[in-house]
Amino acid sequence: MITLAIPKGRLLQQLAPRLHRVGFDDSALNEKDRRLIRNNRDETARLLLLKPDDVPTYVEHGAADAGVVGRDVLLERGANVLVPHDLGIGRCRLAVAAPVGFSRTHNQGRPLRVATKYPNVATAHFAARSEEVEVIYLGGSVELAPLVGLCDCIVDVVETGETLRQNGLDVIETVCDVSAVTVANRVSMKLERARVQALLDALASP
Ligand code: PRP
Repeated sequence: MITLAIPKGRLLQQLAPRLHRVGFDDSALNEKDRRLIRNNRDETARLLLLKPDDVPTYVEHGAADAGVVGRDVLLERGANVLVPHDLGIGRCRLAVAAPVGFSRTHNQGRPLRVATKYPNVATAHFAARSEEVEVIYLGGSVELAPLVGLCDCIVDVVETGETLRQNGLDVIETVCDVSAVTVANRVSMKLERARVQALLDALASP
């Protein structure tokens, strides 16, 4: 049986039609259900419904053979996994954003303070520009931080831009484009290649 690590939340909704195709019915995809492992109809595959950040960990360590995750999470975690497909769903971008009218030159001679759920991505982004920054890790609702003086700007996911707009923030620059990708454990792709590849190919087909 192939084990798939799948993120709960927004991406699961977009993945549902593709998971139906490989035999996972609606009850297997129900996030309110408390079962942590769900089998498909013919029991050739099972799903682990996980917090998105945990998907690369399960796949890298072989607790799941393969999975689906946003490229943003993969970039942040730097997991040692194969990335066979870009699924072309869950499209958004990681961006630097700040209050409308913010000027980088007005940071009082101290490093720019950047709040983010993506400290590694943010650190690498500013280092590549030789900009000195202080990165502050937050677990969510990152757009709040510059509104109450915790930071000057943020690095966060922007999808529709509505959260930024409603909070008086604007994109300063794009860090990278994001979409969902498949990930596969390196050993599984040697020992179970045909079955894992077939399952991932079925998920990758639009
Ligand atoms: C994500 C992200 C932004 C928002 C962007 O947050 O962190 O806050 O979505 O979407 P938009 O551009 O369409 O408004 P999420 O809903 O995952 O919650 P979080 O802030 O707690 O991470």
